[in-house]
Amino acid sequence: MTRALSTKTENIAASLTVAIDTLAKQMIADGKDVVSLGAGEPDFPTPTPIQDAACEAIRTGKTRYTAPVGILEVRKAVAEKLKKENGIDYAPEQIIMTSGAKHAVFNALAALVNPGDEVIIPAPYWVTYPELVKWLGGKPVFVQAGIENDFKITAKQLSEACTDKTKAILLNNPCNPTGSVYSREELASLAKVIVEKDIYCISDEVYEYFTYSGSFVSAAAFDGMPERTIVVNGFSKSYCMTGWRIGYDAAPAPIAKIIGKIQGQATHHPSNVAQYAALAALQMGKASTESMCAAFKKRRDFMVERMSAILGESVKAPAGAFYLFLPVSKLYGKTTPEGTKIEGSIDFCKFLLESEGLAIVPGAAFGDDTCMRFSYAASDESLAKACERFERGVKSLRG
Ligand SMILES: Cc1ncc(COP(=O)(O)O)c(C=O)c1O
Repeated sequence: MTRALSTKTENIAASLTVAIDTLAKQMIADGKDVVSLGAGEPDFPTPTPIQDAACEAIRTGKTRYTAPVGILEVRKAVAEKLKKENGIDYAPEQIIMTSGAKHAVFNALAALVNPGDEVIIPAPYWVTYPELVKWLGGKPVFVQAGIENDFKITAKQLSEACTDKTKAILLNNPCNPTGSVYSREELASLAKVIVEKDIYCISDEVYEYFTYSGSFVSAAAFDGMPERTIVVNGFSKSYCMTGWRIGYDAAPAPIAKIIGKIQGQATHHPSNVAQYAALAALQMGKASTESMCAAFKKRRDFMVERMSAILGESVKAPAGAFYLFLPVSKLYGKTTPEGTKIEGSIDFCKFLLESEGLAIVPGAAFGDDTCMRFSYAASDESLAKACERFERGVKSLRG
């Protein structure tokens, strides 16, 4: 076959987090002893009431097409949740159920981005954002948030990054990979710039239930923001439903209409059964997410303590999500027992996987080569083993 394939896809990288997770799973399937802290996937089962609601949905014939935007009951429940928990007003007609939050980010960008548009992405960032922006012909503009500012960008940085081509900012709070959480005051100052510059905001809030000091505030909760903010959220992290593929966009009415149109042509709608499962999740109350959050907090504290001891310096505890973005650049330049020089985070992760059977994700995947990301959404035993392997790997480096 000689005809060219889509040139739009040429500059898109495959997801490194997915690649590492797939490789680790393959190594385990091949009988290798691998501990994987690569994937951002809670290790708890989907809560029973959600499982039961899905079985009931199947038995009662909720197995046919739904409207492209999803069933009304679940969109009403999402609208109520946003009002009650986040203090933001999005009517059910402004909610579009999607096949996960990743799909919701895609929908939002697809509704906004024209070729040449700039989309501001605070770095470190979730791996998917720049690739989707590029795929749509837009230009990712990275604003570097350093460890000295707790990996958070400032209003001044945002203001300076805006040009007449800026279409939107893609905000992720709490953040994957850094675990940073913006305070109400910090968000208010970013919101002021967003409104002044008259740009859109895509606010990915999938980790909203996982904050360990202080509460979560939605980016849409500030004056002037609801009419320019697409809130992205999902059930994968908060209800251990990664494989169910269910999430949503909450968007200003004209954008919601466009997203409904895109979805109607591209996927039609997310699984009918998963929508009923999501409805059950929204009706469950907070007990399961609160107990998960408490378990993650303990694991975070364990990881921070162990890593501080291994690196011989105090590691700051992330305020949210379930990732530790560990600064490791002081180990670069050292040599492995096999004689390979560690030049950066990719080399280091490769060494840890090959020599110690430990899968973690290089910071380079998230736009910061000085760090590596550990997901602590894993069992206590896995975390303890991972720390042992990391320590052995670090101690074996020379130079
Ligand atoms: C910031 C962020 N947004 C979205 C997603 C995707 O979630 P979902 O499984 O709902 O597509 C992830 C998953 O890792 C994530 O970290």
